[in-house]
Amino acid sequence: MAHLEKGRYPMKEDIKSRLLVTGGAGFIGSNFIHYILGEHPEWTITNLDSLTYAGNLENLKDIENDPRYKFVKGDITNRELVNQLVGQGIDVIVNFAAESHVDRSIMDASPFIRTNIEGTQVLLEAAREYSIKLFLQVSTDEVYGSLGSTGKFSEETSLAPNSPYSACKASADLLCRAYYHTHGLPIKITRCSNNYGPYQFPEKLIPLLVTNALENKEIPVYGDGMNVRDWIHTEDHCRALDFVIQHGKVGEAYNVGSDNEQTNLDLVKAILDIMGKSHDLIKFVTDRAGHDLRYAIDNTKIESETGWKPRISFEEGLKNTVNWYVQNESWWRRIKSGEYADYYQQMYSQR
Ligand code: NAD
Ligand code: TYD
Repeated sequence: MAHLEKGRYPMKEDIKSRLLVTGGAGFIGSNFIHYILGEHPEWTITNLDSLTYAGNLENLKDIENDPRYKFVKGDITNRELVNQLVGQGIDVIVNFAAESHVDRSIMDASPFIRTNIEGTQVLLEAAREYSIKLFLQVSTDEVYGSLGSTGKFSEETSLAPNSPYSACKASADLLCRAYYHTHGLPIKITRCSNNYGPYQFPEKLIPLLVTNALENKEIPVYGDGMNVRDWIHTEDHCRALDFVIQHGKVGEAYNVGSDNEQTNLDLVKAILDIMGKSHDLIKFVTDRAGHDLRYAIDNTKIESETGWKPRISFEEGLKNTVNWYVQNESWWRRIKSGEYADYYQQMYSQR
């Protein structure tokens, strides 16, 4: 099979832009759908989501009647359904659907293998069968493993995933790469750092700590709190995905970050300060098994090849995010009082 030429394909005007977004009822997917409908009045979106514990149609309530948007409840491992949807006319698949929480992957890796690996392969096959214009795999910087105290991840960094979650994401990246090289499928991959923003499920650090602080509950900090993450506002991530769709090169991976490294302890203290809460809420708990020490992103490639740059400062993004959780208490209270309560109990009672 002849290789696709590595060029800026497809150009904006080539994309008729009927998108199949998978996992669009989750945190980043729902932010992306809002972003795209706002940014591209001519694009349409079909959102395929199986509504696991992390999927929430409340995130999309305001656009559910938009004629450019359609929701389909279903699983990305369901070949028949995926083929039917892609066969109806899709130009671009944007694959967010995943099991996304490292701690859950430590408890049980099976759903991660099924969705993150097998599901991606089902989507890739459908993309091939119906010759779609672009397959965008939304991956993570965690596929590179952990950094020491210096250096940054570039796209040339070897994949060295350490958790079952990141191993499954890396496997999906490699499948995308293989479908490009073997079948000429037009794929692109993005590898973004830790996101924060509205609609994030409160098992992840920032919404967990904001909502616990609002309830005056302890904030569990793993180990000594010296692990470093490179935080980016989800809106900057969504804009990066749009830029990569339009201007990124086929067959390439792009790192996405915001030059914003924080130790977990500094981050927790900064948020408690914004909220006017005492640092006494911090509780150091047993460390996560295999806990990656540090992630940091080199953005050079995406900035030079697509023109994207992050726009939201950490200070502004954090304040807005804290405000969002303050103003949307019923959203997170419903989640925290549901099946998540059992998870929280199981997860934190033993630490
Ligand atoms: P999330 O857990 O909030 O949402 C995942 C969504 O996928 C949910 O709506 C869920 O119902 C859906 N889903 C899960 N399994 C499915 C299946 N088999 N079929 C159909 N739908 C299914 O995750 P998120 O934080 O929004 O992350 C989205 C994507 O971005 C993931 O692929 C993740 O690896 C990647 N990513 C996340 C971050 C981050 O900081 N959250 C950073 C970089 C990359
Ligand atoms: P998380 O939000 O789970 O993202 P990831 O593991 O994908 O980076 O965790 C972010 C960091 O915060 C990570 O170093 C683990 C740490 N952490 C805590 O200290 N306490 C918590 O309760 C959680 C959920 C995470």
